[in-house]
Amino acid sequence: MKKIFTPKSAICISAALLFGFKSVNVNAQTTAETAKMNAFVSGLMKKMTIDEKIGQLNLVTGGMAITGSVTNSGIGDGVKNGSIGGIFGLYGTAEVRKMQEAAVKGSRLHIPLIFGLDVIHGHRTIFPIPLGMSATWDLDLIKQSARIAAKEATAEGLNWVFSPMVDIARDARWGRISEGSGEDPYLGGRIAAAMVRGYQGTSLKNADAVMACVKHFALYGGAEAGREYNTVDMSRLAMYNYYLPPYKAALDAGAGSIMSSFNTVDGVPSTVNKWLLTDLLRKQWGFKGFVVSDYTSLNEVTNHGLGDLQTVSARAINAGLDMDMVGEGYLKTLKKSLQEKKVTIADIDRACRLVLEAKYKLGLFDNPYKSLDPVREKNDIMNEANRTAARVTAEHSFVLLKNDAQTLPLKKAGGSIALVGPLANNKRDMLGTWVIGGEWEKSVSVMEGIQRVVGDKVKINYAKGSNITDDTTFMKRLNFGPGMVSLDKKSPKDMIDDAVDAAKRSDIIVAVVGESQSMSGESSSRSDIGIPESQQKMLKELAKLGKPMVLVVFNGRPLTLQWENDNATAILDVWAPGTEAGNAIANVLFGNYNPSGKLTTTFPRSVGQIPLYYNHLNTGRPYTDGPTKFKSNYLDIDNSPLYPFGYGLSYSKFEYSNLKLSKTNLKGNETLTATVTVTNKGQYAGEETVQLYIGDPEASISRPVKELKDFKKLSLQVGEKKEVTFAITPDKLKFFNSDLKYDWEPGKFVIEVGTNSDITEKASVKWLK
Ligand code: NOJ
Repeated sequence: MKKIFTPKSAICISAALLFGFKSVNVNAQTTAETAKMNAFVSGLMKKMTIDEKIGQLNLVTGGMAITGSVTNSGIGDGVKNGSIGGIFGLYGTAEVRKMQEAAVKGSRLHIPLIFGLDVIHGHRTIFPIPLGMSATWDLDLIKQSARIAAKEATAEGLNWVFSPMVDIARDARWGRISEGSGEDPYLGGRIAAAMVRGYQGTSLKNADAVMACVKHFALYGGAEAGREYNTVDMSRLAMYNYYLPPYKAALDAGAGSIMSSFNTVDGVPSTVNKWLLTDLLRKQWGFKGFVVSDYTSLNEVTNHGLGDLQTVSARAINAGLDMDMVGEGYLKTLKKSLQEKKVTIADIDRACRLVLEAKYKLGLFDNPYKSLDPVREKNDIMNEANRTAARVTAEHSFVLLKNDAQTLPLKKAGGSIALVGPLANNKRDMLGTWVIGGEWEKSVSVMEGIQRVVGDKVKINYAKGSNITDDTTFMKRLNFGPGMVSLDKKSPKDMIDDAVDAAKRSDIIVAVVGESQSMSGESSSRSDIGIPESQQKMLKELAKLGKPMVLVVFNGRPLTLQWENDNATAILDVWAPGTEAGNAIANVLFGNYNPSGKLTTTFPRSVGQIPLYYNHLNTGRPYTDGPTKFKSNYLDIDNSPLYPFGYGLSYSKFEYSNLKLSKTNLKGNETLTATVTVTNKGQYAGEETVQLYIGDPEASISRPVKELKDFKKLSLQVGEKKEVTFAITPDKLKFFNSDLKYDWEPGKFVIEVGTNSDITEKASVKWLK
């Protein structure tokens, strides 16, 4: 394999350093604890046969989370004969206890199983999809969501979650953009750390703690053309500066495991990539947990063209992959490879030790049934407190994209509303992607939420107005689960007529439109990221009436909303809000909560602009306002996004003024402070996320036009004014240079503070070494 230049200076740079924030590993062990664990695991491993060791590396699916064409059978026998180390996709105290007892009582060495699941944005009580959750910019809320998810998941016997998903994504065609925190490495890293802390709690041994599994390592969000499972090919600089930091931040916060991605990294599939899994992960970053493959990603290395199952399995164990998900490549070939001297016992021992250590850290050897408590299963799941937290988080995640003439909030009494659209009276699509334990029947529809807030004080005229889509071929693809999308008995024309009729009888239109559940998430790439045509047709007819039209948009990705922006009066982006969808939406529509979400991904005007992201390089011929020929631009569209990164309105109006820097000439390790005044000039109390960006226009490599370096969320009463101060140390100026050395370089820096990445107050400093 190609030797990659990784200078010592790049070694072991913590995310805290990388981001300039405090990182605490919640699960760091003392030396004495580590020694005790090592002695225990060594003692156990002495008793293990080679088959039993390989068995620990085999992760099978219990059938509740199938994301490929292969599944497992004979699990009960496998558990008893020690050829299974863990099960995912199985939960519930009764089911888990049955399997755990089979392992602990029925297998020779009584080694407990680890039980995993894709708990991505809540287990039973579903929170907003991660992309929505990131739009809160509220680390406490995000951490709380993970804590609640951990409590619910452990109450059903789980002790391992395949989350956080921290892949940076700049391509809205990629359906899995919904599962991450957007395009920014700094924000993505902080969210990743918050989630790990939420999941793992104060100790992995606690009955309500789950081990986090960071994914997908690495660069999965860089899939070419936004097509799922596609090739990734990027420069080392792009990796280190933009894509890798969130994985590192999650590991620095103590995540116990990490999942290899489906894609190639520098030509080698991640699952067998020694540079990635050993040189970077273990040697540079010092990771001590275990690496699991993605669903049959080891077998798929054969499709990547690297050899048969035995060859790629041998290469994987040698590269640093510890556990094999579903594909049984290790189970079927490692012993043979050992006999043929294609792998060493040291590699198998390493992997086995790491899996056993994870079980030890989780306290499973002390009490394999630690979280199997039917009382908790009854009380800790979907209780009022959890639902309230989900509702509050959803309210904070909504992004107000447009609000002409202060159309929102709506009046709670008097008048009439035409409530239309295929997502208005719909429970099915409230939860979004990855909701294995989620029960959509228990979610609150927008209609129910609105009725709860206004009762009979506002007349609601409902009409479905359109199908999610009229395209039956597209529909078939969306229906990977039964009944996810269907056609109404009425014809599309009659449905539109109903909506128009309802609108004619009403003062204002609220159209609830956008993507259904299966339009985003895994294996849900789209080449057209607009609102589906059936719904657009309805909106176009409604627009002709000239009445105020509010759009409530559901989406698992940035959508192209140019027409909607030009024709709707107000637009509220609600992502997929989760169990409490309708209550949260109604609270925001009627002003019980003033929206404060800000975008964490750029919204393009057209799919042709993709990839479009705020922290891009300048180019040698940047487009400015002047003549456009021979500049980096398009003939047929502006360069600018429809809504930039960090954007989001409020019912109030926040004015920024008086950016003050403590100094404009600095030297060495000084601290610069940047202070700005934010005033609430509107009619409502509200929250604002103040964002700090830094540009580095004089450097040894081309640097992004600006990069997010910090943010603060504040509450302001009507008329209230607050000063917000950011402390900037040279750590915030650092980046990986061409030698992959992480450092800052003297010169000019542009400090920007503002309400989004586009509208800021700016000032420059000279900072010398
Ligand atoms: C495939 C997905 O890529 C991954 O995110 C998930 O954790 C596994 N399937 C297991 O469900």
